[in-house]
Amino acid sequence: MRRLSILALIVLASLLLSACTAVAPAAPAPSGDTAATATTEATAAAAGDETATKDKFLIGMSQANKGEPWRQAMNDQIAAAAAQYPELDVVFADAAQNNAKQVADVENFIQQGIDLLIISPNEAAPLTDVVAKAYDQGIPVIVLDRKVNGDKFTMWIGADNQLIGKKAGEFIAQWCKDNSHTPCNVMEIRGLEGATPAKERGDGFREGIAGNADVKIIASQNADWLREKAIPVSQAMFQANPDVNVVYAHNDPMGEAAVISAQNAGLDLSKIAFVGIDALPTPDGGIKSVMDGRLTVTYVYPTGGSQAIDWARRILEDKEEPPKTVVLETEQVDSTNAADLYTKYGGK
Ligand code: FRU
Repeated sequence: MRRLSILALIVLASLLLSACTAVAPAAPAPSGDTAATATTEATAAAAGDETATKDKFLIGMSQANKGEPWRQAMNDQIAAAAAQYPELDVVFADAAQNNAKQVADVENFIQQGIDLLIISPNEAAPLTDVVAKAYDQGIPVIVLDRKVNGDKFTMWIGADNQLIGKKAGEFIAQWCKDNSHTPCNVMEIRGLEGATPAKERGDGFREGIAGNADVKIIASQNADWLREKAIPVSQAMFQANPDVNVVYAHNDPMGEAAVISAQNAGLDLSKIAFVGIDALPTPDGGIKSVMDGRLTVTYVYPTGGSQAIDWARRILEDKEEPPKTVVLETEQVDSTNAADLYTKYGGK
């Protein structure tokens, strides 16, 4: 009797099991597929609707160092351009030239749920991973002016620093010839070494002077883009090399610092060419400095702020696929065109 019931149980269990396996593949498969398709469509529709009806976008702007006038100009341009689109909100963060702070700023933006990141990185290598992290999470990333390594970002916007350096070098090659300086001694004041424009401006300049064998770079020092650092640096450089004919500064604030140091060293300023880069159209900027005869020449280095907002809007609202690189125009500013360019760029 007991054996019988055990047998009955086994038979019952195997019957049930075979029923299940028979049903399992047959039943869920078709309905499962349909359900899956329906869910995908529903999600897509919902997502589509959500993006289509999304009427506010939050943009995070991570600035390398707001303490510099050119970077303040970039932020101002971004704010002014975004103000034309009520649907765009921009939050700004200032890394104050600190890579770790800038990494934390971007992490905060990611946490905040920004729709798009604009970043002008302090130095390339330390910012590469966090930019890639945002990009890998599907956040469009616009890199402005200074670059990061690799290609994990949506697009880069900026002027061609190698070309600017080359133009400066060609100008100096000719200036040295015109002034019969043989040799023609150059001292270079470089930007922050881990920031890509420093290398590009340095390399481009060397390319540009190659046409005149008399041009010699006799001293090269770093002042991290900063006027206040460039004052003692250039002072020491003039002390060690009083026979300087040309100062090539990687930006206008460092060029202005060199003018002050040369003055303090009692040198004849009219005999030295001072080269800068940025050409901000402001009373303290490079164009005015050329007009006033302090800098000999400078080069327009557009901040790209308004272009960044233009592309941000096109990416977010028009769903446009942007080009990987947008190169902005530069222009030489010398005594012949400085006043015109001051007006052209809206100087007041
Ligand atoms: C400001 C600045 C500019 C320069 C640019 C290069 O931080 O130094 O003067 O042109 O950065 O990235």
